[in-house]
Amino acid sequence: MTTDLLINIDHVATLRNARKETLPDPVHAAAAAEAAGADGIVFHLREDRRHITERDVRLLKQVVRTKLDFELSTDPDVVRICCEVQPELATLVPERREEVTTECGLDVIAHRKRLRDVVAQLRQAGVEEVALFVDPVLDEIDATLETGADCIELHTGDFANATNANERERCAGELARAAEHAHAAGLVVHAGHGLDYCNYPAFRATVPHIREVSIGFAVIARAILVGMEQAVREMRHIVKS
Ligand code: PXP
Repeated sequence: MTTDLLINIDHVATLRNARKETLPDPVHAAAAAEAAGADGIVFHLREDRRHITERDVRLLKQVVRTKLDFELSTDPDVVRICCEVQPELATLVPERREEVTTECGLDVIAHRKRLRDVVAQLRQAGVEEVALFVDPVLDEIDATLETGADCIELHTGDFANATNANERERCAGELARAAEHAHAAGLVVHAGHGLDYCNYPAFRATVPHIREVSIGFAVIARAILVGMEQAVREMRHIVKS
């Protein structure tokens, strides 16, 4: 299976907002990523609007020609905006104001009912696919099936943050088992968080059935040095090889 590369452009907006400027524009970054071969664009409209804003969301909907992945919490106001925008994919994630970035997968078991309602609401509004962002835990994957979601996005943060080879191997094994389990149950498998130019080959070699990956920070950080198109081309080369 070939894996699609979706580029998360949140941190272009983080840089813009640091000086309360209009540049760099995440919409320009999305267009450059697509020109370099990205298979889709991801953004997270957070409740506190710390990076992506509603203006960005509306423009991205008009400009993006590939696939748009709208990451969101179950906050009713953000769910409403997602329903209006109708992206091809909506990915539900947990959200805490104090966190610097998303820290873990959803507790699907605890929030099963609310998640089932939101998945139904998004599908009814015309969102083609809904994914839940989950840790590589088999019970969470089983609970995902009960919500009516089409896909899971496996949280790769522990794998990415592993500090030695044994830990990395253990985390890759957990991801591989979770991917097998989800695929066998009929879920489409996505993955993301902390994937980069160095750790991707080990991830790809170990974890099967990955339909798409969502990669942000590593690509945007490299883009500052080599330009957005070059940074995306380099990641694309690694993901597709
Ligand atoms: N997937 C999800 C659900 C995320 O929240 C993030 C971070 O915004 C990513 C993927 C991308 O992670 P990174 O920016 O570390 O590549």
